Amino acid sequence: MKIKKGIPLIDQHDKNGFYAGKFGGNFVAETLKKPIDDLTKLFEKYRKDKNFLKERNDLYENYIGTPTRFIKLQNLTDHLGGAQIYAKMVSDCKGGAHKCYNAITHAMLCKRAKKKYICTDTGAGYNGKMFSMVAKKFGLGCKVFMGTRDIERQKPNCDAMRKNGAEIVPVNSGSKTLVDAVSECIRYWVANCNKVHMGIGSLVGPNIFVKICGFSTAQISRELKVQIEEEFGEIPKKLKLINCVGGGSSAYGFWSEFIDYNKNQVELIGVEAGGPSNSKLHAAPLSKNSKIGVLHGAAAYCVQNSDGQINETESISSGLDYPSVSPIHCLLKDVGRAKYTYATDEEALKAFKLVTELEEISPSLEPAHAFAEAIKIAPKLDDTNIIVVDSCGDSIKDKDIIKKHLGSYLR
Ligand SMILES: Cc1ncc(COP(=O)(O)O)c(C=O)c1O
Repeated sequence: MKIKKGIPLIDQHDKNGFYAGKFGGNFVAETLKKPIDDLTKLFEKYRKDKNFLKERNDLYENYIGTPTRFIKLQNLTDHLGGAQIYAKMVSDCKGGAHKCYNAITHAMLCKRAKKKYICTDTGAGYNGKMFSMVAKKFGLGCKVFMGTRDIERQKPNCDAMRKNGAEIVPVNSGSKTLVDAVSECIRYWVANCNKVHMGIGSLVGPNIFVKICGFSTAQISRELKVQIEEEFGEIPKKLKLINCVGGGSSAYGFWSEFIDYNKNQVELIGVEAGGPSNSKLHAAPLSKNSKIGVLHGAAAYCVQNSDGQINETESISSGLDYPSVSPIHCLLKDVGRAKYTYATDEEALKAFKLVTELEEISPSLEPAHAFAEAIKIAPKLDDTNIIVVDSCGDSIKDKDIIKKHLGSYLR
């Protein structure tokens, strides 16, 4: 499939919701066909509605505080001695990460569907935190499904969810992480879709959830494009946009305005979770061996065993610890528009340490994977190359993990 210019990539699917005829789709139980149809109609109606967009843009600007900063990391640039490194500080968003863009759209749709309850999944806790925050603002009841392993390792975000009045539903099945939380959340929705709206926390799931999420996070690259043009007077000739990839909502949002550029001018680099260096387990379906499989209603590259079962994953970063990935990223990989690699747990920790020591920013362990790649490639490039890293989450949620591994939590 050739990507069409001028059309958002999320909309370049066939009538069955497949990208390139093989990624995505709607692998759902019969009972979900109608709720998904209804949600699709609702979204298609409102995505172009002037009042809806005005309200959404106002919330983006005045509630979550966008545009977030675009800053030069001069100390890191000088230290590495190569490409110029910048960061898009998406972690400045209210709540500390990009997940608020999607949460706002879902809460607005939930209201228009006249539903009083919203449910979602979470891994790192940021998506749950944002849904709980927005639910409180909109007066909605909120349930957040979260693996018990993640509840243990992401305590600050759990505290925030509870403070916002959300119920955290602990998920004790499987690996007790994001993958199980999404499954449980979808199961709950199947049984309660008449009164509950579901928002999936990433660019994954049945086609409509990919579209709503991508429609929402695309705002990040609209902001970034303006900021880059202000800084350089044009889009630089050698620009590299580096983003971590779990399900892929942040990366799509960071890249969407730049996909139509020639790949020699604007390189898109996604960084997955390579897991601990002494383990065979990882969460890197695009950059390590994997096959197409079906998970959470969509076909995509999945980490599988030789029988085609979804394999366990491992990563220090809860937000990246997911065995599949968005159909959009499968497409970008297949057509060669984006390049995907991985960073190990150790590389991410090292990157966190270096960036935090040198700069006044403190990326969470998810964007630390993206910084690890920037640190790897910057010294090999000259200063006509501009690297922009999406610093999409704040490290405060990871303070216990960082303390355990590095001895102290610096900030
Ligand atoms: C800060 C942060 N970055 C990245 C991710 C990965 O998700 P996605 O790939 O959908 O952006 C998460 C997920 O929870 C996150 O919290």
